[in-house]
Amino acid sequence: MYGERPTPYIFHTQISKCDARPRSVVLAITLMSSQKMENSVWTSEKVVLSPYKDIEVPKLTVDQYTFRNLDKWASKTAVVCGLTNRSYTYEQVYKNSRIFAVNLRKKFNIKDGDTIAVLLPNIPEYPIITFGILAAGGVVTTMNPIYTAYEIERQILLSDTSLIITNEDLVPKVKEALTLAKKEFPIISLNITQSPTEGTISYKELVEDNHANLSVLNEVNRSYNDIALLPFSSGTTGLPKGVQLTNRNIVSNCEQQNTEIRQYEYSTESHQDSTLVILPMFHSYGLSSCMLHKLSVGLRLVTLPKFQPDTLLNALLVHRPQLLYLAPPMILFLGSYPQVTAKHLENVTCVTSGAAPLPSADIQRLYEKAERDIPFCQGYGMTEASPAVSATRKGEKTSENVGYALPNISLRIVDADMKNLGPGEVGELLVKGPNVMKGYLKNPQANSEVFVDEDWLRTGDLAKIDETGLITISDRLKELIKVKGYQVAPAELENVLKEHPAVLDAAVIGIPDPVTGERPIGFVVFKPGVKATDTEIIEFASKRVAPYKKIQQITFLNEIPKNATGKILRKSLKEKFCK
Ligand SMILES: *[C@@H]1O[C@H](CO)[C@@H](O)[C@H](O)[C@H]1NC(C)=O
Ligand SMILES: *[C@@H]1O[C@H](CO)[C@@H](O)[C@H](O)[C@H]1NC(C)=O
Ligand SMILES: *[C@@H]1O[C@H](CO)[C@@H](O)[C@H](O)[C@H]1NC(C)=O
Ligand SMILES: *[C@@H]1O[C@H](CO)[C@@H](O)[C@H](O)[C@H]1NC(C)=O
Ligand SMILES: *[C@@H]1O[C@H](CO)[C@@H](O)[C@H](O)[C@H]1NC(C)=O
Ligand SMILES: *[C@@H]1O[C@H](CO)[C@@H](O)[C@H](O)[C@H]1NC(C)=O
Ligand SMILES: *[C@@H]1O[C@H](CO)[C@@H](O)[C@H](O)[C@H]1NC(C)=O
Repeated sequence: MYGERPTPYIFHTQISKCDARPRSVVLAITLMSSQKMENSVWTSEKVVLSPYKDIEVPKLTVDQYTFRNLDKWASKTAVVCGLTNRSYTYEQVYKNSRIFAVNLRKKFNIKDGDTIAVLLPNIPEYPIITFGILAAGGVVTTMNPIYTAYEIERQILLSDTSLIITNEDLVPKVKEALTLAKKEFPIISLNITQSPTEGTISYKELVEDNHANLSVLNEVNRSYNDIALLPFSSGTTGLPKGVQLTNRNIVSNCEQQNTEIRQYEYSTESHQDSTLVILPMFHSYGLSSCMLHKLSVGLRLVTLPKFQPDTLLNALLVHRPQLLYLAPPMILFLGSYPQVTAKHLENVTCVTSGAAPLPSADIQRLYEKAERDIPFCQGYGMTEASPAVSATRKGEKTSENVGYALPNISLRIVDADMKNLGPGEVGELLVKGPNVMKGYLKNPQANSEVFVDEDWLRTGDLAKIDETGLITISDRLKELIKVKGYQVAPAELENVLKEHPAVLDAAVIGIPDPVTGERPIGFVVFKPGVKATDTEIIEFASKRVAPYKKIQQITFLNEIPKNATGKILRKSLKEKFCK
C-alpha cells in the first residue's frame, strides 16, 4: 500500500499518561521553559533559534554511532518480524552486517562511496543490510518495493547503482529494470527459506560465512562528512531526486531527537522499549526516525512488511510495542475496527502518525478504544532534513501546531523575495541545521532552487511562528500531489504521458478526493494527425508507475496553458477544470 512517503510530512504524536509527574511540576517546567523561550528564540534579524539546548555530536559514521553502545544491549533483541517472529539480537545485527560488508568488498569489489540499492519491504534483515553496506564503505539508496521496472530503472541510472539487494519475489522486476537501463550488475536476493533463483546471489551465504576476514574492513575510509544515505524525494518541484544525507546529517538528527521531545526510555539491563515499524523503511521517516534512531538507543524494532488488519492486531498482542509510528489510515483503522480493544493498546505509550494532518475525531476514537485520555503532540520534517525539523514537547496538548525547532536548527519565515517576516506572519518556512542535506545528487539546477543564502533549505511549505517559537504549518507552496499522504510529483507523470507516441504535450494536477485526499488527473495535447483514447493513455501510464500514482482521468486540450517562460499554469487548469 505504500508509495513514496511525503516530504515534508506532518506527524502527530499522542502520549499516554505514563508521564506521571504531578500537575504542578508540569506547570512549573512549562513556565520556566516558556520564559526562557520568549527571551531567546527571535533574533534581531528575524531568525528563529531553537529553544532547546545546543547539542554536540560525536564525529562518527552512522554504523559506528549506532553500535558505540553495543556492549550495553548486545544480547537484547534489536529487531523481530511481527509476522514470523524471526529475530536478531544487537550482537547478531552487528556481526552479520560486518560479515556482509566483508563479502561486499571481497566478492563484489565494492569500494568506498559506491552506491548500493535496497529494494525491500520492512523485514528484520533490513538493518543488517543497511549497516552492512555502510560498514563496507558504500552509500545506501532505498527503493519502494511497489515501484514498477520503469521507476527502478530511473533510480538505478540516477543514483549510479552498482549492486542491488532485493527479495526473491521482486527479482523478475529488477531484471526487467536492468534490461531497460541497459545495465548488468549482480542481484543479491533474499529468501530465508529457499535457495536463490537463477542469476542471483544468495544473501544467506553472504552473512552466514564463518570464515570472513574482518580485517578487510580496516581498508574502509569513510568520514563524518561523507554521504551515507541516498533516499529519493521530489523536493518542492520537479522529478524525484537523490537526497545526499551525510553521516553528520543522520547522526545529528538522531541526537536532535534525544532531547526533551524523547518519547521512549533508553534501554537498560532490565528495561527495553520497543517500536512498531510498519511505516516503510525505504523512506527517510521509517529509515532514519524509526529504524536508525531507535537502534541507536537500544530499542527493539517490530517490523511489519505491510498493513493488514489481522497481522497488525496480532503483532500488537504478541510483541506489545510502546511506540507506534502509523499513517493516518491506520489510526482510523485502530479507532474504528470492531476487533480492536484496549488490550491491543495496553502497552502503547506513544502514537506518532506520519503523512498528513489527522482529524481530531480519529484521535478521539483511538482514545475511546484505549480507554485512556492520551495527550497529543506533533512534529514536522522532510527527507531533505534527515528528516525531523520540529516537534512539540512531551505532554503538550495541541493539534494546531508542529512544535518547536529541534536543537541547533534555525528557521526563517520569508516572503516571495526571501525577506524575513516576523512573529505571526505567514510565509515560506526555511530551515538551517546540521541535519540539512548536503544537496541533491548531480543536480545543480535543483540545488540552486532549493537553497537560498547558501545553506538555508526551502521547504515549500507556508507557515507562521509565534513569539515563543511555536510553528504552525498553514499551506503548501509546492506542486506535489498528496495521495493517501504519499507524494506524487506532477512532473514525473507529465514525462510518462509524453512518452506515449500520440502525445505532444501534457500537464498533471491534483484534485480533491474524499477518500485519498487528492488524486492526479492529466491533460494531453496530441501530435498533429495522431490520436488515442483516454483509456489507452491511462493504461499506458499505469504500467509505468506505482499504483498510488495512477492517473485517474484524461482531458484533451489544444494547448497546455503556460507562462512566457514555459512554466505550466497549474492554477489556471485547476480553476478551469476542477470546479
Ligand atoms: C550546535 O551548535 C553549537 C553552538 O553553535 C555547536 O558548538 C555544535 O557543534 C552544534 N552541533 C552540531 C551537531 O552541529
Ligand atoms: C510468535 O511468538 C508468540 C509467543 O511469543 C507465539 O504465541 C506465536 O504463535 C509466534 N508466532 C509465530 C508465527 O511463530
Ligand atoms: C521464497 O521462495 C519461495 C519458493 O520459491 C516462495 O514461495 C516465497 O514467496 C519466497 N519468499 C520471498 C520473501 O520471496
Ligand atoms: C585478511 O585481510 C587483510 C587485509 O586485507 C590481509 O592483510 C590478510 O592477509 C587477510 N588474512 C587472511 C587470512 O586472508
Ligand atoms: C582517508 O580519506 C581521506 C579523505 O579522502 C584522506 O585524506 C586520507 O588520507 C585517507 N586515509 C587513509 C588511511 O587512506
Ligand atoms: C504490558 O502491560 C501489562 C499491563 O500493564 C504488563 O503487565 C506487561 O508486562 C506489559 N508488557 C510489556 C512487554 O511491556
Ligand atoms: C513563469 O513562472 C516561473 C515559475 O513561477 C517564474 O519563475 C517565471 O518568472 C515566470 N515567467 C514569466 C515570464 O512570468
